[in-house]
Order: sequence, then C-alpha cells, then structure tokens
Amino acid sequence: MHTDLLTLAALDAADMDTLFDRAIELKARHKKGINDQPLLGKSLGLVFDKHSTRTRLSFEVAAIQLGGVSIFISSKDTQMARNEPVMDTARVLSRYLDLIAIRTYSQAFLEEFADAADIPVINALTDMYHPCQVLSDLLTVIEKKGGYKGLKIAWLGDGNNMAHSWINAAAALGLNLTLACPEGYLPDSQILEPAVAKGGNITVVQDPYEAVRDADVVNTDVWASMGQESEQAEREKVFKPFQVNAGLMEKAAPDAIVMHCLPAHRGEEITEDVLEGPQSVVWDQTENKLHMHKAILDVLLKG
Ligand code: CP
Ligand code: NVA
Repeated sequence: MHTDLLTLAALDAADMDTLFDRAIELKARHKKGINDQPLLGKSLGLVFDKHSTRTRLSFEVAAIQLGGVSIFISSKDTQMARNEPVMDTARVLSRYLDLIAIRTYSQAFLEEFADAADIPVINALTDMYHPCQVLSDLLTVIEKKGGYKGLKIAWLGDGNNMAHSWINAAAALGLNLTLACPEGYLPDSQILEPAVAKGGNITVVQDPYEAVRDADVVNTDVWASMGQESEQAEREKVFKPFQVNAGLMEKAAPDAIVMHCLPAHRGEEITEDVLEGPQSVVWDQTENKLHMHKAILDVLLKG
C-alpha cells in the first residue's frame, strides 16, 4: 500500500481488498460496541477548500472513534490564502499532524502537497478524483451483492471526478463498467485509456439505456459539480436524457441497486421515487463512508 491515497490508479486489487476487509472488520466490531483505538495520540488534519457534509464529518468521526483527534482547517483561514507556498505549508503541517485529508480543486495541488509532506496525504475529493467515495461505495456493493466480481456496473451522467475514480477501480478490480455520458462531458481520455490498457472492461456509450441494460449497480452523481455552478442551466439541458428514473431502471437487472454519493438533486439526475425507493442504497453508502475512512486512516498509519 502506498503512503498516500491520492488516486485509485495507484492501488491494485490487493490494496483495495485490504481496505475492504479492514472496513468490514472495523464496522462489525463497532456494531458490537468494541472500540479499536489505533489512532490514540494521533491527529488528523482536514484541509478543505470546498464544501462538504459527509466527507468532513465521516473523517472527523472516524478519527475520534479510533482514539485520535481531528482538526478542521478551512484553507481560506490559513496563510495559504495569502500565498504561503504549498511546499512550506505541507512541511509545517507534517510537524504537527500524523495524517492529512485534503479537499481541493486541483489534483496537481494535492500531489505537490503530498510530495512535500512527510505524513500520509488523503484525497478527500479533487476536480479529477474522489477515491475515498468510490472505495466506500464498493464496500456497499460488497455488502449488498456479496462481492464485486462479475457484476455489471453502470455510470450515468457526467464523466467527472466520481466517474474517473470508478474507472480506476474498474481497471484494478476487473469490473465490468459501462459509462453513459453526453458528448462533451466524457471521462478524461488520459484517465480512461490507461485504465482500458490495464485490462479494464470499461465502455463509454452515449445511450443511457444501453449502459443500464441488465446492470447490477446503477450509479449517478450531480450534473454540475462543485466549481461548475455557473454551468448548471446548460448542463440541465444536456444531461436530461441521463436521469435515473423508473423507466430507465426497468432495463436494469430486477435486483439492481441504485447508488448516489450525495448530495442529490431530486428531479435532476435522479427522481424522488427512485432515490427513496427500495432499490436505493444511498443511506448505507453514506454510513459506509465512516467505516471506510476508519480503514483508510488505520491502514495508512500502519504504512
Ligand atoms: N459524497 C460526498 O463527498 O459528500 P460531501 O460533499 O458532503 O462530503
Ligand atoms: N461530483 C461531485 C461530487 C460531490 C460529492 C462534485 O465534485 O461536486
């Protein structure tokens, strides 16, 4: 396992299985009231440039439940906002903290930070990737479907940070992943092509019905990600045919699960009846962020 978790492209199947196994173990022990404290005396810093409800809270609670403390650092309140160099900030924070999770815009910024830091750095979302979310979503898939092997997974909507992390996971785990994205909003070819070359069974189509046909897992996300708010109206028009609704779900396997990392926009990328319906697993997905983040902190700290 790498020291940092910046992208799933750096993890192989064994690394991911280690995280799934540890998350399952920590979750079961927590439900039995057993308190594991591998972070006793350790501090997790959370440097966030963008909004967050789930990722921030689940990392904070993860650190606390494991016996550590978490410190939230809004980057606009730091000297970074007054142009202190990234490499200086990374070295300073490394002298105080034991782990750091960063939510920011640029993957290059995250990588520059990680290069200069002496402690494990975790990607808590960039414009390019959302690796911790996809790991926790796969934990939910494993729980609901008994594993991830042989499943048909569909992605509907934007070829965004979530789609990119699903592509990386598909390449590592050999998932059968079909993404339906409108022209102009396809996944980045610099992420897709190496994933396909690695042997990933990954297809990009423009027809949402083709993507969901017989799918076991149907995934979607917001049409306008953080930082793209000014494109909302234009995106609503382009993405309309990619909405996850009851008609689309009829084409999926009858026992398919519907996933959304949240926050959801009911009536846009997903209809109310599907989000609140029996196939939706979104609240379990949300809970699993906590258990997966505990596994990530524990595994990275052990090195
Ligand atoms: N799914 C997710 O990352 O949610 P937040 O933006 O609330 O952290
Ligand atoms: N693609 C979304 C995910 C939010 C958790 C965004 O980046 O805003």
